[in-house]
Amino acid sequence: LILTISANATHEIPATLYGYMWEDINQSGDGGLYAELLQNRAFQAVIPGTQNALTAWQPFNGARLSVTSKTSGVSSSIPNSLEVQIPKVVSGPIGFENTGYWGIKVQSGWTYQGSFHAKAAAFSGSITVSLKSTRGTVFATQSITGITENWKKFTFEFQPSISGDTDENVFNVVVDGKAAAGQTIFFGMFSLFPPTFRGRENGMRIDLAEALAATQPAIWRFPGGNNLEGASFETRWKWNATLGPLENRPGRVGDWGYPNTDGLGLLEYLNWVEDLGAEPILGVWDGISIANYSDLSTWPVVPEADLQPYIDDVLNEIEFIVGDSETTEGGKLRASLGRTEPYALKFIEIGNEDQFQPESYAGYRWNAFVSAIGAKHPDFEFIATSLPSTALDPKYQRIDFHMYNSPSWFTTNAFMFDDYPRNGTKWFIGEYAVTSTNDTNALGDIPSGRLPYPSLQGAVAEAAFMTGMERNSDVVFASAYAPSFQHIRNYQWTPDILTYDASRLVKSTSYYVQQMFSTNKGTHVLATTPSPSNDTVPLFWVASYNNDTDVIFLKLIQVSNTGKTDIVANIFLDFSVTGFGTATSIGTPPLSPISGLFNVSNTLEEPELIIPVSTSFALPFSNKFNYTFPATSVTVVALQTK
Ligand code: AHR
Repeated sequence: LILTISANATHEIPATLYGYMWEDINQSGDGGLYAELLQNRAFQAVIPGTQNALTAWQPFNGARLSVTSKTSGVSSSIPNSLEVQIPKVVSGPIGFENTGYWGIKVQSGWTYQGSFHAKAAAFSGSITVSLKSTRGTVFATQSITGITENWKKFTFEFQPSISGDTDENVFNVVVDGKAAAGQTIFFGMFSLFPPTFRGRENGMRIDLAEALAATQPAIWRFPGGNNLEGASFETRWKWNATLGPLENRPGRVGDWGYPNTDGLGLLEYLNWVEDLGAEPILGVWDGISIANYSDLSTWPVVPEADLQPYIDDVLNEIEFIVGDSETTEGGKLRASLGRTEPYALKFIEIGNEDQFQPESYAGYRWNAFVSAIGAKHPDFEFIATSLPSTALDPKYQRIDFHMYNSPSWFTTNAFMFDDYPRNGTKWFIGEYAVTSTNDTNALGDIPSGRLPYPSLQGAVAEAAFMTGMERNSDVVFASAYAPSFQHIRNYQWTPDILTYDASRLVKSTSYYVQQMFSTNKGTHVLATTPSPSNDTVPLFWVASYNNDTDVIFLKLIQVSNTGKTDIVANIFLDFSVTGFGTATSIGTPPLSPISGLFNVSNTLEEPELIIPVSTSFALPFSNKFNYTFPATSVTVVALQTK
């Protein structure tokens, strides 16, 4: 193939092109990005008295544990507490333990900040809290006194001087058995935090946050996805239930089968988006819930006559985010929580996947939300979620397209936007990923082709599709890989961009592709001409120029599914370039015995099987060079022009 890269820019590339869709799924928030170490820390969204309510808690030395709402809780939002009964005849330390999110990472040099609430009618002895291994090594311990018959919050710090060699560690809470014999002690709202990303209080797990930040996402679509919607109107994601002290957040039954603490709440999200330097795309609840995922007929819809309170709720949410801190109620509330300056917000997504309830969406919900928000915020841009149905009033300007499919779908459809009418409407690829090798059932199970982790073949196909997005970024204004995170011990969806347990993490092949595309982005797309024009080599490409740095980026994807054939391309440039270029590639590891295979993945056990490799190469002539693109690979060539 001969490829000529013209100096003519076809259009500007929007800064918002690459990013992520985010919701709490697969323990992506609780147990994942949100750094809290104690699972089920406040017994939120559980049924008192059940075994389930004790998830992650276990007795130590024979204490009797149950979750109760019969005594008043630590706050009206947290009605459940842990009732700990100490038998009449007991000796030694006795109490209970939290096993974390399938383990707790213990790191020497870290300071852990902890707290809990406790009360007891007739026990006033000391309480000892420790970070221990399940084999009995005590890493840090503190003794706390002052318990009374009324709820009181106790705080402590741990500074372990050695690290745990495994994650099999627990947070242990005990009292002296003799002193407490026959007594009942109530505990509520625990918390234990390691250091967080950028030191933010109630913040993010450092390794996961750093990994995500290193891909420089430009947009962050949140808080869902299905998890926005709730199984009922009442259990939808409620912005104002995620604010303020943790004791004020009731939590909820999330849509993905586990309780959400809402510790990762609206303010935490907005701060995180700022830390990333990204633009938020705020999904707002628009009147549907998902009662039973597999039976659309059960999904409740708010009738038109009852919609106004929900519209008001969204207006209040937006005012909280952007309202003036002195003249609006929302802004005042935000300021009272420590943030005076309004957050940047421009993109509002009305609902999530409303193609499943198109009649009411087109009938009144889209109109009601867009009209009310637009009247107050004329500069906002609204994203519709009803594809393939687009008959909306007012007419949509931006629409969200979701696709989970096989590698062949993504490569075949890499040109789907080339002929899209340039009529002012734009696309947001709001969820996408190669999920399976199965062309007819991409959301089936692993035996039928579903990927447990992103594969090289899948990532390469995503990259081929992404060349189409970037080449057509005059009509594709943003994209969001989804879903993002997966805790290996509790997940509902594969594959995901990052997988982890309590201490390890693996960056997937799709992660590296996102990073390569996002961090090597021009400001303008350049026209390219292949020769012969009908060449059938399995290459996909896009070229761009960065006006700020004077660098040309050529992203070239080789999708050969045999995984074996390297392809040489002759590149001609309408530019003079300096003598060296760099090429960053991800493909099958050339020296590995698996060379030639493409359905391979990085895993927690082999996290660096496939990683990008960068090389620098000399350009024999200033404006022309040959480059060999390895089989099943993604390459970004960067050339300095000045
Ligand atoms: O990303 C997983 C789910 O897929 C999202 O919650 C939903 O929007 C889509 O159906």
